[in-house]
Amino acid sequence: MRKIGVGDFIVTDLMREYVNDILETRRLSYGPYCRAFENQFAKLHSRRLGVLSNSGTSSLQVALQALKELHRWNDGDEVIIPAVTFVATANIVLHNKMKPVLVDVEHDYYGIDPEKIAHKITPKTRAIIPVHLFGMPCDMTSIMEIARAHDLEVLEDSCETAFATHYGVPVGSWGAIGCFSMYVAHIISAGVGGIAITDNPDYAVKMRSLVNHGRDAIYISIDDDDHLDRLELKEVVERRFKFESIGHSYRITEFEAALALAQLPDWEEMVKQRQYNAAYLTDELASLKDWLQLPSIRPRTTSSWMMWPFILREGDKWTLATFLEERGIETREMLRLTDQPCYTGFWNPDDYPVAKWMNEQGLYVGCHNGLTTDDLDYIVEAFEDYFK
Ligand SMILES: Cc1ncc(COP(=O)(O)O)c(C=O)c1O
Repeated sequence: MRKIGVGDFIVTDLMREYVNDILETRRLSYGPYCRAFENQFAKLHSRRLGVLSNSGTSSLQVALQALKELHRWNDGDEVIIPAVTFVATANIVLHNKMKPVLVDVEHDYYGIDPEKIAHKITPKTRAIIPVHLFGMPCDMTSIMEIARAHDLEVLEDSCETAFATHYGVPVGSWGAIGCFSMYVAHIISAGVGGIAITDNPDYAVKMRSLVNHGRDAIYISIDDDDHLDRLELKEVVERRFKFESIGHSYRITEFEAALALAQLPDWEEMVKQRQYNAAYLTDELASLKDWLQLPSIRPRTTSSWMMWPFILREGDKWTLATFLEERGIETREMLRLTDQPCYTGFWNPDDYPVAKWMNEQGLYVGCHNGLTTDDLDYIVEAFEDYFK
């Protein structure tokens, strides 16, 4: 049977070359591949600085912790997040001993609804975390306006989205810090990995320290004691086992960075293919729009289509999901958050009607660049057969 996964991993000659080079040089810890990926990825997203970690969640964790420490926020201060997102967004707020405050999402584009943010802001609100789901940018112009008016920091959870723009500006570069995931089936995929990008050197230094147990930023990589004069070396030797923050062991290796770096020369082609695939599915399934809410693109925005999301207007979504899965088409839920067992008693899922509707009726399938036109036709036929 044909298998249509939500993601794919395409191995290239460049990946083999980079990985073989690492095996040859035997440099595993933070080194030239990590540095090159940080610089190039940040630049492609209009930012100066990038800090790698071992996951998107780790990047979000250290990003919020850096903001909290540097701005001296208190435990219990509030962070606004959308009511539809992966659990990691809520969890990193809780792990930072802050309070996630949920705001419902937009009916059509599934981003945090800017019109509903203002009345959730209290004297304790410190930040907003917009989440760009499925490759689709949030309404960043409105969100930034609200943040400026209320003196809030914006930390973008762009784990599911890279190379997507709103008003021509890449998402992940609107707020103080933007975080991306390189987990399996993401836009850039290295197995595991995360990157935080920013223009603020203080944030970058703090995040890099937090990824490395919170150690003194004078010595983060094993190259940091090379080529120093005697006095400088003495200072590094004295300080390199000083820890300034209670940090984490969130380091990545050169292998993941090399796999990610090898994908960057192809990013435009990869995104174009995803855009083509998503448009193909949306066009070919237009006749089913009375049964399915098909994805739509926010004006003045480009999507990089990590996934192709849809909402079943009526009927049981599990019957549809099983029908597709029986045909080898992988499905996922549209990131149910509000009624997860781990958050019982945290909030009332009924207070977020759009999220509730998406929880009940929302699914996605893959539209990645590994799919052929035959694969796309196969998906279209499966949907058509179901609704026949
Ligand atoms: C919206 C969102 N935030 C955070 C994450 C966490 O990323 P990771 O799995 O790399 O920790 C994910 C994972 O896919 C995600 O979808």
